[in-house]
Formats: sequence, C-alpha cells, structure tokens
Amino acid sequence: MTKQMQDKVAIVTGASSGIGRGIAEMFAAEGAKTVFAARRKEQLDEIVDGVAKKGGTALAVPTDVTQEDQVAALFAKAKAAYGRIDVIVNNAGVPTHINTEDITLKYWNDVMAVNLTGMFLCAREAIRYMKAQDPQGGRIINMGSISAKTPRPDSLPYTATKFAIQGMTHQLTQDGRKYGIVSSIIHPGATFSGFSAGRRTAPGAGPTPQDYSMDPADVARIAVLMASLPDEVNLYEATILPNQMRSFISRG
Ligand SMILES: NC(=O)c1ccc[n+]([C@@H]2O[C@H](COP(=O)([O-])OP(=O)(O)OC[C@H]3O[C@@H](n4cnc5c(N)ncnc54)[C@H](OP(=O)(O)O)[C@@H]3O)[C@@H](O)[C@H]2O)c1
Repeated sequence: MTKQMQDKVAIVTGASSGIGRGIAEMFAAEGAKTVFAARRKEQLDEIVDGVAKKGGTALAVPTDVTQEDQVAALFAKAKAAYGRIDVIVNNAGVPTHINTEDITLKYWNDVMAVNLTGMFLCAREAIRYMKAQDPQGGRIINMGSISAKTPRPDSLPYTATKFAIQGMTHQLTQDGRKYGIVSSIIHPGATFSGFSAGRRTAPGAGPTPQDYSMDPADVARIAVLMASLPDEVNLYEATILPNQMRSFISRG
C-alpha cells in the first residue's frame, strides 16, 4: 500500500519531545524523508535511531530556532541530504504560567524568540527554498493552540504568540500562493508532552473526565492529513481537543 507521505521531505522543529516527536515519527512511518530539529542532540539521536530501526528515513539536526544562522544551516542540511523541502512543521514552542505583573522584559522577549521569531525564521527560510525548487512549492504547518482562541489564566506571552501565529498563518497562506506554498495551522487542546511534566505520566484518562490528555499521535494524524492532501487543497485550520475539555468549549 502506498504510504501517505512517500518520499516527501519534511522538517519538524521541536522534534525532541511531545507533539513534534509524534509528528516526526508518524511522518517517517508514512514514508517521508524527515529532518528532526530541536536543541537537545542526545534526544534527537535516540529518536532518529528508533526511526531507522523501523525502516524510516530520518536525520537529526540540532537547532536552536531562535538563531538565524542555525535555522539557515538546518534548511541547508535538509536540502543537501534530500534535494528539496516539501514540508516544514513549525512546532517548537515553550509554555508560560506567570502573573502578568511579574513578567520581566527578558522573559517576554525569550518567549517571543522561540514561539514567534523562531516560527518566522523557519517560515521565511522555507519560502526561500520552496520558491526556488523545481517543482516549486511546499507546505508550512504551524503549531497554534486553543490558546489562540481562548487564553488560559496568567499566560499572556504564550497567548500573544499563539494569536500572532494565527495571523502569520493567514498571511503566509496569502503570500505563498504565487509560489504554490500552502500554509495551515493546528490548534491542539491538552496533549501529553513536555508541557505536562510533573502533572501527568501518560496520555489518556486523568483523575476527572476533563483531565483527558491526548496522545501526540492524535495530533500527528492531523499533520499527516494536512501534508498529504493534493497540492491544490488546503486544510487551513484544525482544532483538535479532548471532547471533555470544558475550559475551551463550555461556560461556567
Ligand atoms: N501539549 C499541549 O497541550 C499543547 C497544546 C497546544 C499547543 N501546543 C504546542 O505544541 C508545540 C509543542 O509543544 P509540546 O506540547 O509538544 O511540548 P514539549 O514536549 O515541551 O516540546 C517542545 C519542543 O520545542 C523544542 N524547543 C523549545 N525551544 C526551542 C528552541 N529554542 N529551538 C528549537 N527547539 C526548541 C523542545 O526541544 P529542545 O528543548 O530539545 O530544544 C521540544 O522538542 C508548542 O508549539 C506548543 O505551544 C501544545
């Protein structure tokens, strides 16, 4: 049976854990030639080994997405290894839990650097490669959050970046059309990941129905669908969340 992403070249940022790891592993399982990017080299190497043992194609490129030269090197290595770039999943991100009055300028800037500037740098680099390659085009999949729709309390920097990523995706979709570059955004609800550290030990049911935590593989299935649709078709936006997650859907 043909795999859904056979021979597509895909970069996934934040691939060393959580949702990014889930997406990168599922892309590889679906036949993609994958590039795993994040800062922690040991984690990336271990995950890439696991993919290779299952017959997948993966390359680890340790990258800090806040650093322009490292993002440039990431794309250059992907192109050198596989010849083109079909998909970038802009997933690397950090959470915030802090009272607004306690946010220092440095803290604010550090969150912006990863959650927003990092996504800009990767999207810009993706456009440069996707515009220049033959056949032209590709896909940019940005990781939003339901925080782009309904904020959590005490999470101003995170919420601001996720609203901004929605705007960035809209703009990229418009500006990419002339080059056949398709952009889309995924808004996950609670998903088991590094974000759950200290609170959860596994995905699935929690102490109450509202505490259900999705498996990163649930989110990865959306990314595979977005990445494998016909070039002319865009699943522009997808919100995926635990059905009992009352904080988003319900009112008190
Ligand atoms: N989990 C949820 O419930 C949830 C819900 C909505 C949206 N999201 C979004 O999903 C995305 C992934 O988060 P996650 O939940 O999977 O959390 P996670 O397990 O903590 O993963 C975050 C990833 O981002 C990477 N990262 C952080 N700073 C980086 C930097 N400067 N350069 C490169 N990579 C960096 C981390 O790798 P290194 O530390 O190795 O660099 C890690 O691989 C984020 O954009 C987040 O906002 C998560």
